[in-house]
Amino acid sequence: MLKNREIILGVSGGIAAYKSVELLREMTKKGANVHVVMTQNAQQFVTPLTFQTLSGNPVLCDMFRLLEDSKIGHVTLADIADLMVIAPATANILGKIANGIADDFLTTMVMATKVPVLFAPSMNVNMWHSSFVQNNVERLKAHGYQFVDPIEGDLACGSVGKGKLADIEEIVEKIEDIFTKKDLSGQHVLITAGPTLEPIDPVRYITNRSTGKMGFALAKMARRRGAEVTLITGPHYLSLPRRDIPQIVVNDARQMHEAVKHYFEDCHIVIMAAAVADFRPQDCLTEKITKRKNGTYLLEMDRNPDILKELGEKRRNHILVGFAAETSELMENAGVKLKEKNLDLIVANDVTQAGAGFGVDTNIVKILDAQGKVRKVPILSKDEVADIILDQVVKLVKKKEKDLPWPRNW
Ligand code: C5P
Repeated sequence: MLKNREIILGVSGGIAAYKSVELLREMTKKGANVHVVMTQNAQQFVTPLTFQTLSGNPVLCDMFRLLEDSKIGHVTLADIADLMVIAPATANILGKIANGIADDFLTTMVMATKVPVLFAPSMNVNMWHSSFVQNNVERLKAHGYQFVDPIEGDLACGSVGKGKLADIEEIVEKIEDIFTKKDLSGQHVLITAGPTLEPIDPVRYITNRSTGKMGFALAKMARRRGAEVTLITGPHYLSLPRRDIPQIVVNDARQMHEAVKHYFEDCHIVIMAAAVADFRPQDCLTEKITKRKNGTYLLEMDRNPDILKELGEKRRNHILVGFAAETSELMENAGVKLKEKNLDLIVANDVTQAGAGFGVDTNIVKILDAQGKVRKVPILSKDEVADIILDQVVKLVKKKEKDLPWPRNW
């Protein structure tokens, strides 16, 4: 998304200015060409040299100093850029821009540009909640400027509350979101992720090696593409770089079953990436099993409900996508599951392959559709694999929309 993008990073004078260095690094790592513009106050916190060294571009600070490379004046740069991000945005800079003041390079540029502008504010909690700042934020939003709101936390001024610069990961996610085509808008996507934990006794459980990474990547990418996303997940240790994905955390397969049933009616697309345990111990004992007796211990297991199979029987106009994590006969097993569960797509992966399956950040998959067509996806990051799966889903959405009678009622 950021490859070859021209991005202007505006840095205003708050203590979080040092974090913009990290933001610059993340954007350049993803292939963006970043031009940094600093206010006078920002230069008290971080030197222009730091940004210049890391961006490889001259840092723009002074309105009246001609640049060595005079091709890039503030108006020219404002024209060629794809996006402006101001991080940190202080109360002062928000106030100036909201009230049409353009008295330095950064504020002049914001006024001169027609490209999307994203603000990541950071300030003392009372300043953030003050009616001045809130009115200015509302005014800027009404003008179409975008925001990544500050988060709660320990602030540099010693107070605690909302005012901390959003995590760099979240700011980068918002930038990628701005560049993404919203081809899933209007769609409610239900995604399951992670393992289930099937209790044996109060201290033990049976589970599998799923970490939730693939399902989380799908949730992030679907939201980025404009879908309303509900994520139902087994226990996990991951963080989602978005605050706008409701997350329902369940423990075992029966809880996941209940949660999926609850959301199924109101969603258009279900992607079951969760590794749901097929069996559970017959009884969850109330007391811990002790090893006092010698010999073996036999654990009797019951079958868990097959959630996806049930959805396949109940589906109306839903699009259903399943996963098949296999260790042998990948495509044969995936094909059988696709038919048995009445799915539109199944994503098959051989979890014994290096770089595929549980825990790793990459995956290697084959996407099989109901017509028998197979799309081979080489080793890619889970985000990229998620995007390719969603490309197939979008095709199905378009086809369904064409086939549905008017008025189109999902
Ligand atoms: O049959 P198998 O478990 O291999 O099928 C995998 C697919 O079915 C996955 O999409 C998984 O989320 C889903 N599944 C389910 N309920 C189960 C087991 C698997 O929904 N009890």
